[in-house]
This record gives sequence, C-alpha cells and structure tokens, in this order.
Amino acid sequence: MGLYAALAEAIDAYTGLSPAAFSTILALMVAAYFLVSSMFVHPDALPEKPSSASHPAAPATAPPPPYVPAEPVQVGDITAEELRAYDGSDPKKPLLMAIKGNVYDVSLGRLFYGPGGPYALFAGKECSRALALLSFDPRDINGNLEGLNEAELDVLQDWEEKFKEKYAKVGQIVHEHTKAGCNGSSEQTESNVDTHPEPSNTS
Ligand code: HEM
Repeated sequence: MGLYAALAEAIDAYTGLSPAAFSTILALMVAAYFLVSSMFVHPDALPEKPSSASHPAAPATAPPPPYVPAEPVQVGDITAEELRAYDGSDPKKPLLMAIKGNVYDVSLGRLFYGPGGPYALFAGKECSRALALLSFDPRDINGNLEGLNEAELDVLQDWEEKFKEKYAKVGQIVHEHTKAGCNGSSEQTESNVDTHPEPSNTS
C-alpha cells in the first residue's frame, strides 16, 4: 500500500471524509486562521504613541493656528470705477462689494466672492439691483434701484442687514465729481446711490 492510500484510509477512519473533502476543509481553516490573525497586531509592533512626556510641545496633536483675516482697511469715499480694482484679481487687495452705496469688505467670504467663487461676479461692484432681483445678469449688477417693487426692495433690505451683520463697512460709493469735491461735500446718502445702470458690456 502506498503512502497516499494509507493516508486516505487514515483520514477516512478518523474523520469519515474523503481525502479531497478533508484537504479542502483543512485549507479553509488555515486561510481563516491567517485572515483572523492578520486583524491583530502585536503590541510591540505598534508605532510609539506621542506622549506629552516624550514630546512636551506635543506638535502632533496641537490644533492648526486659526485663520486670522487681515484687519479691514477703510477706503472711505470711492467711485464705482475705483471699486472694480477690489474684485479679487489682485490677491493683495481686499475683496470689496457695495450695497446701497455702502462698501463692505467681503474678504471673509473669499470662497463666495473670490476668483472662481459662485458670486465672484459681484466682487468690486455695487450689487444692489442684482441682489434685489436675485439676478446674476451683468446688466443688473449696479446700484440702480429704479422700478423695483416693494417686495424687491425688501429683499435688498434683507441682504443689506446680512452684510451689515457679517462684514465691515469700509467706505461709500461716490460719484466722480462728488469725490473731486465739486459740490463741496463727500457725504454719501441713500438718495445719491447710483441710479444709472452701468453699460451691460462692463460687467
Ligand atoms: C439656486 C439658487 C441658489 C442657491 C442654491 C444658493 C445657495 C447659497 C448658499 C448655500 C449660501 C450660503 C448661505 C450661508 O452663508 O449660510 C448662499 C449665500 C449667498 N447667495 Fe446664494 N444661492 C442661490 C441663488 C442666489 C442668487 C440668485 C443670488 C443673488 C443674485 C445669491 C446670492 C448670494 C449671496 C450674496 C450670498 C451671501 C454670501 C455671504 O454670506 O457673503 N444666491 N447662497
């Protein structure tokens, strides 16, 4: 009797299984063993935990320093034309946006108004009409409140309150001649908010 025949007979006698069934079960058990044991790691093999004793400064667990935006800089009286320089194209300049003639530093909302942001088209502009009408049409991005109904003016009012709460007011829109002092005053009132829509090709 060959060795294989003797082995087969022993397997059958002890387990009642055929050699093929026995070796399949054996292989599955070995595989299960390696699978389960791979889920555990010997404590010695663990990487050393950073402890405050070994690393007093504990840099690995220290939170990242908070983002501190630059102090808003007052621009004071500014014309709509000058405001355009603050549209995010120069990363060293703050992002400014005007509502009802008041200029806000919206740099905190860089994700909204910065280049590539969903509201980037508002940066550097007087946006009252667009916000009142909830419009992204470049022809509406101006301070012209003419023809707006009460509901639209209410919408604009809500936006203004949101901006007053969230952003620092850093200046006010003035007409060129007002800034140059032609009428002797640089005071901006809501009545002298630009009521002339900008040409549609200057968005
Ligand atoms: C499909 C339509 C719109 C969706 C899903 C949408 C979504 C949003 C979301 C999620 C925010 C952030 C709100 C927050 O800060 O808690 C936001 C803010 C804003 N949205 Fe919209 N929006 C939509 C249409 C518009 C339109 C039509 C306008 C104006 C024309 C607009 C102007 C703004 C402005 C100015 C902000 C304020 C960002 C800030 O806090 O500085 N959105 N929008």
